[in-house]
Amino acid sequence: WRKVPICLRSLSSLSKQQAKLADIDPSRLEVIRTSKPKEIPPSSSLKFGHTFTDHMLTIPWTVEAGWGAPQIRPYGPLELEPSSTVLHYAQTIFEGMKAYQDPNGRVTLFRPDMNMKRMNTSAHRIALPNFDGDALLELIKKLIWIDKSWIPREPGHSLYVRPTLIGNQRAIGVAPPNEALLFVILSPVGPYYPNGFKPVSLYGTTEYVRASPGGTGAFKLGVNYAPGILPQKHAAGQGYDQNLWLHGPEHYLTEVGTMNMFVVFNKDGGYELVTPPLDGMILPGVTRDSVLTLAREHASGVKTIPGLPKNITVSERPVTMKEVKEASKSGRLAELFGAGTAAVISPVDKIGYLGEDVHIPTGSDGMGPISRPIWTELVGRQTGTIPSGWSIVV
Ligand code: COI
Repeated sequence: WRKVPICLRSLSSLSKQQAKLADIDPSRLEVIRTSKPKEIPPSSSLKFGHTFTDHMLTIPWTVEAGWGAPQIRPYGPLELEPSSTVLHYAQTIFEGMKAYQDPNGRVTLFRPDMNMKRMNTSAHRIALPNFDGDALLELIKKLIWIDKSWIPREPGHSLYVRPTLIGNQRAIGVAPPNEALLFVILSPVGPYYPNGFKPVSLYGTTEYVRASPGGTGAFKLGVNYAPGILPQKHAAGQGYDQNLWLHGPEHYLTEVGTMNMFVVFNKDGGYELVTPPLDGMILPGVTRDSVLTLAREHASGVKTIPGLPKNITVSERPVTMKEVKEASKSGRLAELFGAGTAAVISPVDKIGYLGEDVHIPTGSDGMGPISRPIWTELVGRQTGTIPSGWSIVV
């Protein structure tokens, strides 16, 4: 029993120490503008994620002092020691969001509060420091404003915002880091897939898993992505664009490549829109949530989406390849699509599964009866042509 008060004492001194740690403070921002602005390339030449703007945001963190002074400075290399823990143990998390500029020059971000929340959840999962999401967002807006001439205005184009947080302890030991670095870079982008907005083909991956119960699939960690590259290569080697992650002996559909996924079944003269539930293995995507919200509001009559069939039910439930295959054969399958920030909505036209192709219906423009009106509404809200509380002015 003597041990208890000692533990409590050390806990209370720890929380006192933590209380003194600084959070991200936008008033400490230092801005160093580049002396050599780059030439902004034409949007038609952009390859997703290959071009970066003139500036970046960096914010250091130490276990002793908390978050240090933010800096917006010329885009360029980071200096890391070879012992930095991020290089050894993948102590890295990231986010993806998009900024748009309308014809009146108004710059907006789409639901960035959700990205800030998810980034904090991801940080917690791998023992990286948490931060005030509103303060980071204020700094991100300043960065975007400084580089706003880089925001492409062509339809289907935007400025991709990539906040990243890394553990930067200079030691070869697996532990919460005593130093970290948060940085934000900006990339003008067009469509994520090289074939533009055409439907993609998927390879149902049964040999590898993306996530497992108790694992990290529900968090946006760098470590979730590198193991997907080899399966993606296998899919490409067999002529498919992306892999479809199947889970367990039942081959539950989970995610498509780097996106959440939706299946649409014909049901009772209407449609059932299905996506796998957030069971700890699915990334809680902002686009996923937006699609679900739009469809649910429409179905309940809260907000009608032009062109979306009235008779639609929305389900977050498990769906197996057996169900999709049978539905494809019987005509019950209406469509299947991926949803993510980078790719927005990406229709699928076939799935390679256990040696045969499961065919998915697509409309003449590649989209289906549910994805087309939802895509139109979503893109309208993202670009600000359809007013909504989701579009946040920078
Ligand atoms: C996004 O959709 O923004 C992502 O983070 C996927 C990415 C791996 C390109």
